[in-house]
Amino acid sequence: MTRCASDSAAAGQTETGRTFELSDEVATEALGAALAPLLARGDVLALTGDLGAGKTTLARGIVRSLGYRGTVPSPTFTLVQHYEIDPLPVAHFDLYRIGAADEIVELGFDEARAEGIVLLEWPERMGSYLPADRLQIALDYDAAGKARLARVRGPGDWAERLRALSP
Ligand SMILES: Nc1ncnc2c1ncn2[C@@H]1O[C@H](COP(=O)(O)OP(=O)(O)OP(=O)(O)O)[C@@H](O)[C@H]1O
Ligand SMILES: [Mg+2]
Repeated sequence: MTRCASDSAAAGQTETGRTFELSDEVATEALGAALAPLLARGDVLALTGDLGAGKTTLARGIVRSLGYRGTVPSPTFTLVQHYEIDPLPVAHFDLYRIGAADEIVELGFDEARAEGIVLLEWPERMGSYLPADRLQIALDYDAAGKARLARVRGPGDWAERLRALSP
């Protein structure tokens, strides 16, 4: 994982961001592992990017770094996977297949956020239910289509918290 640049232009004045070049799957998981210690109960992380961009890989890095030792599969079909990690449980949603935005309520989004950390793949599918204070992690393919680029930004105190993110 290579630290690239501080990126405030795209994010606006109140949201400064960080950009990372991720040369392979290991680097994507390592970014997740580096984010994990910065997270607290109630945090919502929105992982965006095209099919196969690396959203599940990054989520796996977070879940494992928080102490979960088992398999961390894609929630493509289950829609949500719960990890009962003590003291900070994680709910990992993949909203690609939800029919309507309000299904997120039945899936237990509010309860999951009250208890721990929420990771969202395809967050745009939950429409107006998506919290404004989320950390946004955008994954893109690089020009050659092999490595990935991650842009991480969030409002409020996220900029301060992201400063602790080691390269
Ligand atoms: N930085 C990277 N460079 C190259 N390949 C990567 C990188 N990060 C992850 N991958 C690989 O990309 C593939 C897709 O990863 P992943 O399943 O995490 O994507 P996704 O965004 O969750 O996909 P989906 O949209 O289907 O949920 C995997 O084979 C993974 O190993
Ligand atoms: Mg996925």
